[in-house]
Amino acid sequence: MASRKVILAVLFLLLLFIFPAIAFAFTGGMHTESVHRRLGERSVKADTLSHRPVQRHRKLGQETKPPQDAEFNVVSYGAVGDGKTDDTPAFQKAWAAACSSSNPATMLVPKEKDFLVKQTTFSGQCKSSVRFKLDGTLVAPGRSTWPKANMNKWIMFSNVDKLTVSGEGTMDGKGEVWWKNSCRVNKNLKCTKAPTALLLNKCNHLKVENIRLLNSQQMHMSVKDCKDVVLKHITIIAPGDSPNTDGIHIARTKDIQVMDCNIKTGDDCISIETGTENLYASKITCGPGHGISVGSLGDKNSEARVSNITINKAHLIGTTNGARIKSWQGGKGYAKNITFEDIIMEKVKNPIIIDQNYCDMDDPLMPKPCKKQTSAVELSNIQFKNIRGTSGTKEAIKLDCSDTIPCHDLVLQDVKLTFSRHGKGATSTCKNAKLKKSDNVIPKTC
Ligand SMILES: *[C@@H]1O[C@H](CO)[C@@H](O)[C@H](O)[C@H]1NC(C)=O
Ligand SMILES: *[C@@H]1O[C@H](CO)[C@@H](O)[C@H](O)[C@H]1NC(C)=O
Repeated sequence: MASRKVILAVLFLLLLFIFPAIAFAFTGGMHTESVHRRLGERSVKADTLSHRPVQRHRKLGQETKPPQDAEFNVVSYGAVGDGKTDDTPAFQKAWAAACSSSNPATMLVPKEKDFLVKQTTFSGQCKSSVRFKLDGTLVAPGRSTWPKANMNKWIMFSNVDKLTVSGEGTMDGKGEVWWKNSCRVNKNLKCTKAPTALLLNKCNHLKVENIRLLNSQQMHMSVKDCKDVVLKHITIIAPGDSPNTDGIHIARTKDIQVMDCNIKTGDDCISIETGTENLYASKITCGPGHGISVGSLGDKNSEARVSNITINKAHLIGTTNGARIKSWQGGKGYAKNITFEDIIMEKVKNPIIIDQNYCDMDDPLMPKPCKKQTSAVELSNIQFKNIRGTSGTKEAIKLDCSDTIPCHDLVLQDVKLTFSRHGKGATSTCKNAKLKKSDNVIPKTC
């Protein structure tokens, strides 16, 4: 009797739960799927809505014609894109057309083609904003084609307001032949200039996004005399032993953000030179390379002005330096309000380094030896916060400041650096550095 009751109870439960479940699979299940689909649609819509211009175009589209970028494809102006034909004239024609467009213009370099472009300058002012959309590859010509009187750049944008350089494409500097001919590599050779692959000069409201720079002849990218700049998601790749191939060089530029960049090169990943003000860099991966560097400042007795620099979230891998500030003896001016924070070091040779007695003995253009001089660039308000990882040499922290103008108001906080080999303790040196605060710092300093 009892067992029959159990069987009945089980059947009852089956009726109660299984049948509705089966029914749900046929009706409700489809219902959930359609809900998902609808949710999917909604998230797609939310995405498009988050791009304000699209939304605005749509809304306007209901009333007036949507304002569209006028497109100027270099191929329509005669570019061949076989990697051999000189496409410089076609690029210049396309630029002239884009730059004189009264609507916002896009100069398109289409994908899956290699465009050989010789040294050239794209100049403004333009009538409207211009987007240089690099989806294909720009390849540099051989070294012999360079004008002897002007070896210091490859592609320059000058005086262009509201310029955007973006796209999935690559600039390939074909730098190998230049590196072989560098007096830094072959001491028997005379020192000559070598091109910066992408030079952005006097461009206000500038954006550079997503492009890739490969094997530049010398510096990969240089931003000079600009204001209001965003550099985002840029990839830079050159061998660790390529000479002077700085990743991103910044000088005399105000209000600049550098975000999500991955830089592997033979010199500084980012070099911050005089005249840089209000710089915020975040999520930078660097290595190989010489690290993230403010300076060198004050060379040839010059005056430096650098202020309000933040390097936030960086990952440095096997670089010669990590967070670095360097200045020559004999300089003037200041570098102040500089913060390096949330940085991970992996076998970095000089993870934290301030060097006010910088002397580049390998720099062929500088007098040697570096004489003792009394004036110096004043370094103040400098913070190193939450910096962790391994040093590639025993000395993890080096604060080598000026005898005459010691660096002051330094803060070191939550620093933990160990010597990578055998996990042994790292050391520090400290000369003429006045710390405001030193909290939770390993190795101990000053
Ligand atoms: C410092 O720079 C940041 C980032 O560029 C900026 O938002 C901030 O306003 C600047 N601070 C001062 C005091 O200029
Ligand atoms: C520098 O930092 C100080 C103190 O942290 C602040 O009062 C000042 O506004 C900052 N100046 C600049 C130019 O960022």
